[in-house]
Amino acid sequence: MNTLPAESETGPQLLRGGMVGVGMIFDETYRPFFENSRRDGLHDRRFGLCEIELAAVASRTGKRAAAYKQAAKNRIADFQSFSEPDGIGQLLGTDVDFVCVATPDDRHFKAAQAALAAGKHVLIEKPSVLSLQELDQLNQLALDKQVLAKVVYHKLFDPDHKKLRTLVADDILQHVNNGYCTLLEPKIISGSQFSEWITGRNPGTYVAVHYLKLIDFTFGGKLKSVACTGQRGIVGPHDGPTWDSTQLRVIYEYDSGREAAFDIHTSWVTPDNFPGYVEQEVQFRFDNGVWNGHSRRRGVECTIEEKTPIEAKININNHYNGSFLEPDGQRSQVGYGIEVLERFAREVASVEFGGPAEARDERLAAARDLAYNDLSSDRQVVAIVQAMEAILARHAAGQPNCVVHVNASQGGLVLYAPGSAEPEVLYEPTV
Ligand SMILES: NC(=O)c1ccc[n+]([C@@H]2O[C@H](COP(=O)([O-])OP(=O)(O)OC[C@H]3O[C@@H](n4cnc5c(N)ncnc54)[C@H](O)[C@@H]3O)[C@@H](O)[C@H]2O)c1
Repeated sequence: MNTLPAESETGPQLLRGGMVGVGMIFDETYRPFFENSRRDGLHDRRFGLCEIELAAVASRTGKRAAAYKQAAKNRIADFQSFSEPDGIGQLLGTDVDFVCVATPDDRHFKAAQAALAAGKHVLIEKPSVLSLQELDQLNQLALDKQVLAKVVYHKLFDPDHKKLRTLVADDILQHVNNGYCTLLEPKIISGSQFSEWITGRNPGTYVAVHYLKLIDFTFGGKLKSVACTGQRGIVGPHDGPTWDSTQLRVIYEYDSGREAAFDIHTSWVTPDNFPGYVEQEVQFRFDNGVWNGHSRRRGVECTIEEKTPIEAKININNHYNGSFLEPDGQRSQVGYGIEVLERFAREVASVEFGGPAEARDERLAAARDLAYNDLSSDRQVVAIVQAMEAILARHAAGQPNCVVHVNASQGGLVLYAPGSAEPEVLYEPTV
């Protein structure tokens, strides 16, 4: 359990952050978050001024961390950098208060487990973990150590998605019947950016989770079943375990007894010069309305000779993460991709510094109640990820078109294969 002293005993309050993984997402969101907070501090009525410092990082080789440190100069604290073997162990040997995990998704669990066991608050990139068994362990550790365990779903802070949720919560859009979401990543992601860890992986786990959480969080309901198929042959062999694209279907049931089905299509082999870059489209159909969202229709299209669409994007999402010259002459990098990290830091600061030590448990419980990012609220999303991974593994092993039922008579997650009378229980307890 963390026992950080209150401001009155120590002067300015300080939270030291640790970073596991210093890749693309670090550069896009964590780096500006840590730089912004170093420059401005974090102010909040609940805890006053809290300084946030990047104190230590762990990565495979340490090369990007070294290059960043040199380039950033005093925009960032003089952080320690650890690499394999046991970079995470060394990072946890320092006095960090919270740890952000941004490694490839099949390595989230070990890093998060070690950090929680060491009594650190933890923030994990999506998808949090790949199975409910892992999720249960992390939740238990967070409870035992009395720290926060959270996951980053920045799309929930996209103003468009906040508006969707508002219309649903206010019963203006009534009962979702069905919908689809697509997210298409360019080939460069599978071909070079992620080439080190892509074998055996699929774009569904990596990006469909954004929409799974949006659906789960916005519409609520109980998950009933998961089906999935996909295509191979570009990133890896046509009969191997590495997937180019996936099509996932999830079915939910609501308190009314009515159901809804959602199809989520993802790919990481879209041509690099496709103007959408990360093409995103959603449609949700309600009893009394239709919601349509399209990344290429919501805002700006900007062409610059010799820059777009490869070096610069034609469709710029200025809400997610933009570098701006502000009207007052300051340079900034802001957006919901960074805001979501700052909110986690505020939650940690309010637990540790937001009132008397005797009331820490209450503040911890309040922070845990935030369903948008607490690991304990990630059960149905992780269940879908686990089911999808199992269905694709069976498919790669020559048994396509399996379906997973949720909270069936045999268990919480049960996989049925066509032609087989014997189901496989992926997860025994209720989801
Ligand atoms: N929120 C989003 O929209 C978004 C976007 C991109 C990536 N992500 C997520 O962020 C995570 C990382 O993705 P990325 O694009 O930054 O990947 P990346 O391949 O660019 O970087 C991965 C980093 O993890 C480090 N690493 C790998 N194995 C490690 C280990 N065992 N111990 C310590 N460090 C290790 C690597 O050295 C590298 O620094 C993934 O979970 C991904 O799903 C989220």
